[in-house]
Amino acid sequence: MEPVPRKSELSRDPVAVDFEALRADFPIFATGQQPLHYLDSAASAQKPACVIESINQCYNHDYGPVHRGLYPLAESASEHYEAARRTIAHFINAAHPDQIVFTRSATESINLVAQGWAARHLQPGDEIWVSQMEHHSNFLPWQRVCKNRDARLRIIPLDSEGLIDLEKSKGLFGKNSRLIAITQVSNVLGTINPIREIVASAKQHNIPVLVDAAQSVGHMPVDVQDLDCDFLAASAHKMCGPTGIGFLYGKSDRLAATEPLLLGGGMVDEVNIDSSSWAEIPARFEAGSPNLAGAVGFAAAADYLRNIGLRAIEQQVKSLMLLAYEKLSSIGGIHLYGPAPGLNRGGIISFNIGGIHPHDIAHIAAEHGVAIRAGHHCCQPLMQHLGVSSTARASFNLYNNERDITALVAAILDAKRILGHR
Ligand code: ALA
Repeated sequence: MEPVPRKSELSRDPVAVDFEALRADFPIFATGQQPLHYLDSAASAQKPACVIESINQCYNHDYGPVHRGLYPLAESASEHYEAARRTIAHFINAAHPDQIVFTRSATESINLVAQGWAARHLQPGDEIWVSQMEHHSNFLPWQRVCKNRDARLRIIPLDSEGLIDLEKSKGLFGKNSRLIAITQVSNVLGTINPIREIVASAKQHNIPVLVDAAQSVGHMPVDVQDLDCDFLAASAHKMCGPTGIGFLYGKSDRLAATEPLLLGGGMVDEVNIDSSSWAEIPARFEAGSPNLAGAVGFAAAADYLRNIGLRAIEQQVKSLMLLAYEKLSSIGGIHLYGPAPGLNRGGIISFNIGGIHPHDIAHIAAEHGVAIRAGHHCCQPLMQHLGVSSTARASFNLYNNERDITALVAAILDAKRILGHR
């Protein structure tokens, strides 16, 4: 397989991109429920027509089994699948396409590393470090593997703003630390963690780092060679791609030291009654019939985002977040979580309004056509740190605009009025 060419410049001046026009690329804003102020992209992003079309094209014209047939349709299906792998490798600047393993989701990717890598390497008394802001997907797999191996799950603490204190955390890692598993962007606080610096500090102790990039890939430029992380996990559906597919990036030596999570068809070299051997990487990790249409749609989403420019998307979403933060701050009784807006905050804002349950805010917002999430966001250890059981959360993507923010603020003011909050 061809090595991935060095990534070209992902930057484009955001002023040169007409984001209002791009909104028309997303059919749901014309043909879905109206009005729709979709502020729940941290849960799942909407899909542009080119992604939907690529999946239609695949099923209508190009569909066949991947890596299983010798006739033309099967061969072209295999080619499309491997082309998608190259596209995703290129998107995150992996050194080689074989470092991309297609999985069902970021969650499955992290479980693969927990069961296939950590379970093999952990000894009693070893430590795995996660931060207090992790999603359950980047918490529970480590909790289980640590319990099973008599290892310790350690927590990197947050300061009062929801930031990791880099200097303090450097002193935490030591000779028993075997892995740091950390999110790049918090799905609750919006905090952008200093992954490069954390990896650099971990390297001094020879500690591998896994990055949960579910909220960052597709939202900002992510370059795995620049980050120098060992593993990185993400899902297509949060980056305008289809549901049911994600990927694990791993450095080649780390993947070589990982056992497959799922055993079955397509991942073997030879199977005998007493013992079996595995196929080459990445096929070794992709048991079962590959998700061709998912991979094709995922690649179409990556191309769509690249064509717009990741830097432009990041800046557009950040400016929406800043505007929303300013408008929300002026609402009486509101509490906004996470760092003050600055360089280290992405397009996610969690909030509470004293005495009102976040579910009530989300219900009333829904009546205004405003889609926000309310709950613990699969982050109960973080909720415990914040001293709440849940928050309301608005999250932004490239198709949002100022009208969505105006509608959000109007919905919150209406919730306050209906629920008698002063
Ligand atoms: N992890 C997704 C969220 O935060 C589902 O909403």
